[in-house]
Amino acid sequence: MNRVICIDGPSGAGKGTISQGIAAHLGWHLLDSGAIYRVLGVACQDRGIAWDDSREVVAVARDLAVNFTPGDDGVRVTLAGEDVTSRVRSELGGKGASAVAVIPEVRAALLSRQRELAIEPGLVADGRDMGTAVFPQAPLKIFLTASAEARAERRYAQLLARGESVSLPRLLDDIKERDARDSERAASPLTPAEDAIQIDSTALSIDEVLQKVLGLAVDRGLGMRGSD
Ligand code: C5P
Repeated sequence: MNRVICIDGPSGAGKGTISQGIAAHLGWHLLDSGAIYRVLGVACQDRGIAWDDSREVVAVARDLAVNFTPGDDGVRVTLAGEDVTSRVRSELGGKGASAVAVIPEVRAALLSRQRELAIEPGLVADGRDMGTAVFPQAPLKIFLTASAEARAERRYAQLLARGESVSLPRLLDDIKERDARDSERAASPLTPAEDAIQIDSTALSIDEVLQKVLGLAVDRGLGMRGSD
C-alpha cells in the first residue's frame, strides 16, 4: 500500500494538527510516530531504565505494549492497559522521546511497527524521518517548518491551555536544544527528504497549510478513495 503522505519537521511546526486535519479530510489512518518514542521513554521510566541505556531501551522497544484509541478529546494512549496520555504529552515525555530516539537500534526496532500501519485507504505519517527512513517510497512528502520563536509560542499556548505552567524562554531553549539533538544525531537525523516539499508555516494559518497540503495531494492523485 503506497498511499502514504509524510509530514516531517521540527517540534512545534504544526505537524500534529496538520496531519490530523489531512487524515480526517481524506478518511485515512494517522501515525503519530513521536507518540511511539514518547511512550517508550515513559515505559523506560516506569521500569527504572535510563534513557541512554541502549541495550535495555531496545529490549523495551521490542515489546512495547502500546495502544492508541481515538476519543472525544483526542487520542488516548495506553501502556500495558494503563492510561499514560498526559505523561506522554508532557514536556518530560518529549525529552524522554528525544533521548531514546538517538539510539539506532531503537529506531530499527520500531520500523516495522510503523510500516504495518500503512493500510487502506491510506496513511498520514507524522514525524521526523517518515519521508527519509520509514516510508521512502511515499508519493507525497512535506517538510513543515516554522521559526523557533513561533514554535515556542505555539507550544506555550498549548501547554497553558492544558494547565501546565511553563516559561516561554525555557520552552524556546528546550526547542532549540531538541532541534539540535534531532538534527545532529547519526541515526535518521531530522532532515528533509530529497523529494520533500518544504512549507514554512511561520506566517501561515493552520487552514492555509492544510489547503496547501490537500492541494498537493490532489495534484498527485491522492485522496480519492479507492484510487491507486
Ligand atoms: O513529534 P514529537 O514532539 O511527539 O516527538 C518527540 C521526539 O521524538 C522528537 O523530538 C524526536 O526526538 C523523536 N522522534 C523521532 N522520530 C520520529 C518522531 C519523533 O526521533 N519519527
